[in-house]
Amino acid sequence: MKGVVLAGGSGTRLHPLTRITNKHLLPLFDRPMISYGIEALVQAGITEIMLVTGGTHAGEFLRLLGNGHEHGIDRLSYAYQDRPGGIAEALGLAERFAADDPILVMLGDNIVEHSFRTTVERFGSQDRGARIILTEEEDPTHLRHLGVPDFDDAGRIRRIVEKPEDPPSHYAVTGIYCYPPEVFSIIGTLEPSGRGELEITDVNNWFVDKGEMEFDVLEGFWGDAGESIEAYYAVNDFVRAHGVNKA
Ligand code: DAU
Repeated sequence: MKGVVLAGGSGTRLHPLTRITNKHLLPLFDRPMISYGIEALVQAGITEIMLVTGGTHAGEFLRLLGNGHEHGIDRLSYAYQDRPGGIAEALGLAERFAADDPILVMLGDNIVEHSFRTTVERFGSQDRGARIILTEEEDPTHLRHLGVPDFDDAGRIRRIVEKPEDPPSHYAVTGIYCYPPEVFSIIGTLEPSGRGELEITDVNNWFVDKGEMEFDVLEGFWGDAGESIEAYYAVNDFVRAHGVNKA
């Protein structure tokens, strides 16, 4: 299984900090944000990774990560996204890198307390479809900024609603997704959303509609450090006080 870490986008919610650098290069405690996502993938046993980024600071990722060997990566590739056309568009750039292998995708601003290795193992023994990681979230204000699953009576995901006014459950979709190789042909059929982006939630709902979406619920802390300046500092405080990426 290969890994794809997405670190493009415009980071407008962290302006003005992100006028002078890429969001994923901002510090979280003692390291640039992106280091945590890379470490999480390596910890989950994924050592062939593509980093997708864009904008004027793309070169800094090469300076930070180089060939990846110091970080435990066997093969690190890079792709450049010309404009922030959405998470699914950024993922589409990894098609040739994936070369018909299953992939784990992680958004570069997501931080996890505990390893998601078991999800990678479960996905490895899944015959078909996709697998995502959810986190429990009680605060509706927070849920309104995220993807939120609606469940049927059997406890399966019926639909994922992106940034819902009225959240249908107390779970959020984290930015950690496992996909089979067919994900790239699905991306090819997507239409831009109202905000002009190819949405990862549309990709996920394609698998939901086919009855081929599995999920795990993450234990411990999960944070989206790019959600707002408050979220950025909350994640920073957690990382500093408790540490993350624990085995
Ligand atoms: O963090 C979890 C949430 O991430 C999910 O709950 C949502 O369902 C999902 O849509 C996403 O929402 P965000 O609003 O947080 O997405 P954002 O636009 O902040 O992008 C997240 C990451 O994806 C960011 O770290 C950089 C990368 N990205 C984003 C865009 C728009 C790219 O690489 N290229 C892009 O064009």
